[in-house]
Amino acid sequence: MTQGTVLILGAQSDIAKSIANKFAANGHNLLLASRRSSNFGDEISDLKLQFNVDVNFYEFDVLKLDTHKAFIQNLKEIPSIVICAIGLMGDQNECEKKDDLRTKVLRTNFEGPVNIISEFSNIFENRGSGTIVGISSVAGERGRSSNYIYGSAKAGFTTFLSGLRNRLAKKNVHVLTVIPGTVYTKMTSGLKLPKFFTSSSNDVAKDIYFAIKKKKNVIYTMKVWRFIMLMIKCIPERIFKNTSF
Ligand SMILES: NC(=O)c1ccc[n+]([C@@H]2O[C@H](COP(=O)([O-])OP(=O)(O)OC[C@H]3O[C@@H](n4cnc5c(N)ncnc54)[C@H](OP(=O)(O)O)[C@@H]3O)[C@@H](O)[C@H]2O)c1
Repeated sequence: MTQGTVLILGAQSDIAKSIANKFAANGHNLLLASRRSSNFGDEISDLKLQFNVDVNFYEFDVLKLDTHKAFIQNLKEIPSIVICAIGLMGDQNECEKKDDLRTKVLRTNFEGPVNIISEFSNIFENRGSGTIVGISSVAGERGRSSNYIYGSAKAGFTTFLSGLRNRLAKKNVHVLTVIPGTVYTKMTSGLKLPKFFTSSSNDVAKDIYFAIKKKKNVIYTMKVWRFIMLMIKCIPERIFKNTSF
């Protein structure tokens, strides 16, 4: 049986690639959108061959807000599910010093995703169906000196998704917020990650797949991050400001 078509924004992200595999393996046709890359074609052919699903590629830059409406109009079809995996961490020290990088990190993690998701939200609301998935981050749960530019954009994105869910719950549109802890991907390569609390992109994809099926609102992946962040959020600010983690 053919499943609903899935649009993945930021399709060349490591997590997005695992998501594409998971959905293709379960019979979903894919619309993959990302900035152009010469070596992505082979991966698209592999998905088609391996899973016998329809896969189409679209060029998409989330920072080019004035192209978003035309991007949607050019899609082969309006998807059932939209998943936004776009993100840019940026080096915190550089973000503090360079206004162009600071702006890019804020716009890539917040303004751009908010704009494209808002366009789809209006379409889904009128249609009376659809699923929107935004990948945020535990970095948005409490500001830390090591990544608060990225974290504050993700905090904004999490709040946006919460408000959107509140708006669209009455319109049969499902909004899922995904809050990964640490995940082994190219975004975190070179960083020292906590081994027992760091997942693979395949695990994240699996969690997202089942969260959509179960119509969950907010998931932490791995689950333990919900408790880690709960504890971190309980630390009084007068103590927290002197910590360094
Ligand atoms: N890895 C982690 O530990 C972790 C933890 C929490 C949350 N997350 C979130 O998970 C999501 C996926 O990240 P990842 O770990 O898979 O990292 P990743 O492989 O670096 O993926 C990030 C993707 O964002 C895309 N992107 C950046 N700027 C863009 C733009 N202007 N227009 C379109 N696409 C753009 C990149 O495209 P290009 O391929 O063209 O560069 C890249 O594919 C992100 O939202 C990230 O913030 C990751």
